[in-house]
Amino acid sequence: MEDLYIQAEAFIASMQQFEPSSSKPEKWVERLKSIKASIQSTGTYTHNSEELIFGAKLAWRNSNRCIGRHFWRQLDVFDCRSISSEDAVSQALKKHIQHAFNKGSIKSTISIFAPKDPNSKKADKVRILNHQLIRYAGFSQDDGSVLGDPHSLDFTEACLKNSWAPEPDQKTNFTPLPWAISIDGKPPSIHDVFKESPNLLNEVPLEHPENEAFKALDLKWYAMPLLSDMALVIGGIVYPCAPFNGWYMGTEIGARNLADEARYNLLPKVAECFNLDTKTDRSLWRDRAIVELNRAVLYSYDRDQIKIGDHHATTRQFENFCKRQTDPKKAITGDWTWLVPPISASQTPTFSQEFDPTVTRHTNFFYQKPQDSKAQETKEAPPPKCPYHLS
Ligand code: ARG
Repeated sequence: MEDLYIQAEAFIASMQQFEPSSSKPEKWVERLKSIKASIQSTGTYTHNSEELIFGAKLAWRNSNRCIGRHFWRQLDVFDCRSISSEDAVSQALKKHIQHAFNKGSIKSTISIFAPKDPNSKKADKVRILNHQLIRYAGFSQDDGSVLGDPHSLDFTEACLKNSWAPEPDQKTNFTPLPWAISIDGKPPSIHDVFKESPNLLNEVPLEHPENEAFKALDLKWYAMPLLSDMALVIGGIVYPCAPFNGWYMGTEIGARNLADEARYNLLPKVAECFNLDTKTDRSLWRDRAIVELNRAVLYSYDRDQIKIGDHHATTRQFENFCKRQTDPKKAITGDWTWLVPPISASQTPTFSQEFDPTVTRHTNFFYQKPQDSKAQETKEAPPPKCPYHLS
């Protein structure tokens, strides 16, 4: 209880720091009084809409691993706190996708559903089990290989066990997953949204600006990353369901999703298109193939006018943003290992930047355990303390 007040206080103090100096200091004193009274009598407090909107933005600003935070003030916030039925949740999520996609001029958007009640052990009102609202399935094959995205193996299996029945010809390398929404801790229900509303699914077929053979690889990726399994915390209040999106930086797709050996592992095929010598690593075929794959990603998103950042411009903007924060109270914290891009690291300014890795706990985004986590039931050893997880 006391802890909640301390976090609320820290949040209100940050909020005050960002307000224009013209605003009256009494406003904050009054608000803290009412928060304290509310916590004393009910064990919790409720954000007003100004706090909800600013809090979501500040949580983004505090996200040490995000390279796109210079846009933190441009976040559209949907207040979905009173939504409590499955259908209404699914409607809200569809609205989120349409608003955010904006015909390719993607707008950073968050939808915030009901907060946790810190006084009760009751299950969360709304939880989404998907990692992202748009994501490709991973089907394990009899020969041990995976069709699609290996990252989605467990979730895909859970959906298949729970009534999801894609037609055999629907199972491809790029089958969009259904949504799994759980209300009040009940087993999730499965919505095959993209089958019902294919218009919601926006994808970009990949081609290379010069290499003809590349097109035959038949690759694509979805337009918009929309994370749905992280918790948003504002002034100590936890929102376990607060899906948010930005737009992609090309390397996320070209240097990780499609390139990692444990993901789509496509560099050998790309190398083939370019006739690279894959017999020895010293030909640097991987390095050459990964650059060409990243060119194809940027070229194709640009062709379709889908907003995407490149690692050079994005890191430069981020560096300038950090430099502009001259007030030490507003200094940007960061996680170097994530802020440096996975290709051409030394060619970007973040490489030689130093970051304070402190994680602001009162207002931020956190990884969280799935609601019915087996680990809890079987009393496995708790995972090592990680500052990016809810405790
Ligand atoms: N890296 C994740 C992916 O490739 C998306 C994380 C959020 N990215 C973003 N640009 N907002 O799907």
